Amino acid sequence: MRVLVTGGAGYIGSHTVLQLLKSGHEVSVIDNFSNSSPESLRRVVELAGTGVNIANIDLLDEGRMQGELLRFRPEAVIHFAGLKAVGESVAQPLKYYRNNVAGTLNLLDAMDAAECRTLVFSSSATVYGESTELPLLESTPRSATNPYGRTKLHIEEMLEELAASDERWSIANLRYFNPVGAHESGMIGEDPQGIPNNLMPYVSQVAIGKRDAVQVFGNDYGTADGTGVRDYIHVLDLAAGHLAALDYLADSNGVNVWNLGTGSGSSVLEVIDAFARVSGRPVPYRITDRRPGDVAESYAHPEKARLDLGWKAERGLEQMVEDMWHWQEKNPDGFPDLDSNKLDPQELRNFVLGNSGEKKRPKKP
Ligand code: NAD
Ligand code: UD1
Repeated sequence: MRVLVTGGAGYIGSHTVLQLLKSGHEVSVIDNFSNSSPESLRRVVELAGTGVNIANIDLLDEGRMQGELLRFRPEAVIHFAGLKAVGESVAQPLKYYRNNVAGTLNLLDAMDAAECRTLVFSSSATVYGESTELPLLESTPRSATNPYGRTKLHIEEMLEELAASDERWSIANLRYFNPVGAHESGMIGEDPQGIPNNLMPYVSQVAIGKRDAVQVFGNDYGTADGTGVRDYIHVLDLAAGHLAALDYLADSNGVNVWNLGTGSGSSVLEVIDAFARVSGRPVPYRITDRRPGDVAESYAHPEKARLDLGWKAERGLEQMVEDMWHWQEKNPDGFPDLDSNKLDPQELRNFVLGNSGEKKRPKKP
């Protein structure tokens, strides 16, 4: 199948593009590299042994979006591109609404023009807001506690209205729990810019010695050890969920919603322990105040995805931490900077950087 992947150079996107290529799909990536490096895709191509088309396009560039969709004529789109930092969304809400909501509108218009109406959207467990009904079901009422979460909620609602207005649309809203881990090769993984906001990358940087200590945001929650509990899911399991959703959408219409989680949670202290064990390094931590907006516990009811998609998460916390540590050790500073102008066309067979006119464009084979 011809699959267009927005945000395909990013953390979850790159792992999914690799699985798509390995399953024989033809893939075109749209990314503006605002939070990623083309190096991730260079490595994906190396791991897959096959090429991927890359278009350096911003979702907000309506004309180039339409041009790329009309050129590639995808049969389905997986839409990862978006900004995801909660704190930044509070400081710069308009940036988030513009990039995430307006960017998605442009994508939907371009899909309509190219007569592609099959879409897998990266939603998030953040749409459950501060719900304390556990486990979280797809039917649990939605709410948002910050602009980032509200962009996901607005997009979910927009997609529901779109599918209700035109039955040719077939859409999956995938609500990810907490994606962690990396490809077992250690060649691709999460490469946070600056100080990581999320627990796992932070712990990993403490274990490698880049940061002094983990701040544990509260140990007075009503959980077994008092620290926050989350449903961490291996990024490879998550990627597999997208392929399963694509298969399902081929024979359905309307909007389908699936939680992608493991169904069980781990506490902050359990994560720290697992990292110290796997890395053989000390992981110092100190208890601080709760982080505003955090819930005590969040974990999925993952049965709907198992029943509808035949998908379930296979990897446990130990595996997630091992793979994350392997990536961290091999790439202590993340991806090296790769100037998209200097991609070597010989090395990157089939790896086409569709770029603005003045940039060098490697030849198609
Ligand atoms: P990421 O930042 O690694 O990847 C997102 C990609 O989108 C990046 O490569 C970035 O350059 C690109 N992008 C952003 N804005 C763009 C634009 N206007 N035009 C073109 N490209 C653009 O993030 P990720 O962790 O891979 O997350 C992927 C998606 O999943 C996001 O939509 C995110 O909100 C959602 N999600 C992530 C998590 C998580 O914890 N990682 C959890 C739930 C949901
Ligand atoms: C956070 C976002 C959520 C987003 C998700 C993406 C907030 C309030 N929520 O979720 O909207 O969808 O990331 O993956 O930012 N913790 C520490 N010390 C740290 C970092 C985290 O103790 O340095 C704790 C948190 O309190 C929480 C757990 O670790 O209990 C996991 O935190 P994190 O990785 O940030 O994920 P979420 O809070 O679930």
